[in-house]
Amino acid sequence: MHISLDDRFAVVCGSTQGIGLAIAKELAGMGAVCILLARNEPALKEIVQQLPTPNQQLHEYHLADFADTKQVKRIIEKIVFLHTVHILINNTGGPKAGPIAEATENEFNQAFQQHLINNDILTKAVVPGMKQQGYGRIINIISTSVRIPLNNLGVSNTIRAAVAAWAKTLSNELGQFNITVNNILPGFTDTQRLRSLIESNANRRGVSKEVIEKEMVDSIPAGRFGDASEIAAVAAFLASPAASYVNGVSIPVDGGRTGTI
Ligand SMILES: NC(=O)c1ccc[n+]([C@@H]2O[C@H](COP(=O)([O-])OP(=O)(O)OC[C@H]3O[C@@H](n4cnc5c(N)ncnc54)[C@H](OP(=O)(O)O)[C@@H]3O)[C@@H](O)[C@H]2O)c1
Repeated sequence: MHISLDDRFAVVCGSTQGIGLAIAKELAGMGAVCILLARNEPALKEIVQQLPTPNQQLHEYHLADFADTKQVKRIIEKIVFLHTVHILINNTGGPKAGPIAEATENEFNQAFQQHLINNDILTKAVVPGMKQQGYGRIINIISTSVRIPLNNLGVSNTIRAAVAAWAKTLSNELGQFNITVNNILPGFTDTQRLRSLIESNANRRGVSKEVIEKEMVDSIPAGRFGDASEIAAVAAFLASPAASYVNGVSIPVDGGRTGTI
């Protein structure tokens, strides 16, 4: 199986912690040059030094706040001026938790910008180079809520569905250029995002975090939360030449939790 990413450039968004960081580590270990995007500069500086370098690659980072779509556009244009990007990992922080009935217009707008509009800006910038190279892998980190909406994640459930529909449409248009567009739907993965969701649910229901955590774990056939490296392994496969005929799909990586076939 051809899974080497030698000489490939990967833009990995939201890569200072959690799933994005795990993906950057995995892609770097497979030989890719990683270009990290996030807000926390001290963390980015440290990570860029610590990523694997089997090909003596020079990883780099750019500061980007996905709340500012104009800034994201400027940064990705700078990146594609310098490098041809072969792999784009669309990933950022999840929207604020809460019931949909309490969500404000502003929260919907912000999440739409941060997730869908930024994905589109980043994609439009990298696709010309991918077409030229005859190789492109666009991987969106979404959520299992694309299949079954999750309680207390009203804005997230709504926006994730839009991203999934955007990605499927894009995959139809780009498949002919050997550019694939796929979604990963992480289940409960042990990151800071999961810890803050557990806390928010515990506060909302007036129970302890342990009660919420036990309920969540009990709903997973694997009997445990996922590790970010388990999401990264699927992203790494999708990014590789071996996944050339996988296009337009959404893959739950959730220990079997999502109750759909
Ligand atoms: N963990 C789970 O159980 C789970 C399940 C389903 C879906 N997901 C989704 O998967 C994605 C990643 O989750 P995670 O658990 O890895 O989250 P996380 O631990 O909160 O990490 C989020 C990453 O995104 C970056 N980020 C956040 N806001 C940003 C912004 N405005 N601009 C630029 N970068 C930003 C953060 O870096 P900086 O702070 O340095 O900017 C960080 O590196 C999220 O969309 C999440 O909702 C997670």
